[in-house]
Amino acid sequence: MSIHRSAVIGSGLMGAGIAEVLAKAGQDVIVSEVSADASAAGRARIEKSLARAVAKGKLSEADRDAAWSRLRFTTDIGEVADRQLVIEAASENEEIKKSIFAELDAVVTDPEAILASNTSSMPIIRFAQATSRPERVLGVHFFNPAPVQPLVEIVSSVLTADEVRETMTGFVAEVLGKSPIQAGDRPGFIVNALLIPYLCSAIRMLESGFATKEDIDAGMVGGCAHPMGPIALADLVGLDTCLFAAESMYAETGDLAVKPPVLLSRMVDAGLLGVKTGRGFYEY
Ligand code: CAA
Repeated sequence: MSIHRSAVIGSGLMGAGIAEVLAKAGQDVIVSEVSADASAAGRARIEKSLARAVAKGKLSEADRDAAWSRLRFTTDIGEVADRQLVIEAASENEEIKKSIFAELDAVVTDPEAILASNTSSMPIIRFAQATSRPERVLGVHFFNPAPVQPLVEIVSSVLTADEVRETMTGFVAEVLGKSPIQAGDRPGFIVNALLIPYLCSAIRMLESGFATKEDIDAGMVGGCAHPMGPIALADLVGLDTCLFAAESMYAETGDLAVKPPVLLSRMVDAGLLGVKTGRGFYEY
């Protein structure tokens, strides 16, 4: 199966990044959003990132224009009917995601189409079961910033067809030029199963007054050669996304390592979500 027509549902931090990656790889891309405002914000995000890629010398102006011309924005999910691949990247809310999958199942006409979720930690099987074609559903998990990070987790549920996993793995490697790894449908897959306990520990360390955020971050940058420390990384990922991932992993495992720190919940209650809102633990 050769994929040319794809769509992304949601154009927040991750959805916009994924749409950009697809368009740069030559895909005809539809980006579907819930409102005109959200769609305009997604457009602006992609435009800004493409401009940054040009400024950094990663993309020519001609390739930027070509990528931009391959993107189409809509607030009507029905427009994704003819797509061969749809990647859901809505906010980390299980009910919202399930209803999107049910809607995709109703509108996408090609029985061979692949329906994927970019969820960072939720069970893929629950989205698969919201459709009449669970064997065509899998997780395709990108990392933030998607245009820069090379990794993509391919997450197969117990019902994902081998052929769907193989097609997506080939597509990610050969068409998108990214590095796929295979993960089981378990809380946090591979990366977040390790990352979320780490970020929660760092926030608990800050909360306890044991160390400042600057010193926690400097510790992991200077001591372990991470490109950024965990507090800055939580801000980059989005504190709401960190909280939802921790909540969903904690609900399923009861592992105290992913019990959401109270400080994280309070930050989210306050609307301080990190880089995307201009203020999280740091100001941007
Ligand atoms: N398009 C293409 N390339 C871009 C770009 C864009 N929009 N913006 C930046 N780049 C490139 C730059 O050209 C540069 O490339 P080189 O190294 O080849 O020069 C590279 O990306 C780094 O960019 P900058 O120099 O501008 O910025 P930086 O050095 O401060 O790095 C960062 C920024 C990429 C975010 C880096 O700090 C980093 O990798 N941090 C860790 C991010 C991380 O861990 N992400 C995973 C989060 S977890 C997640 O997402 C999953 C989840 O489910 C929670």
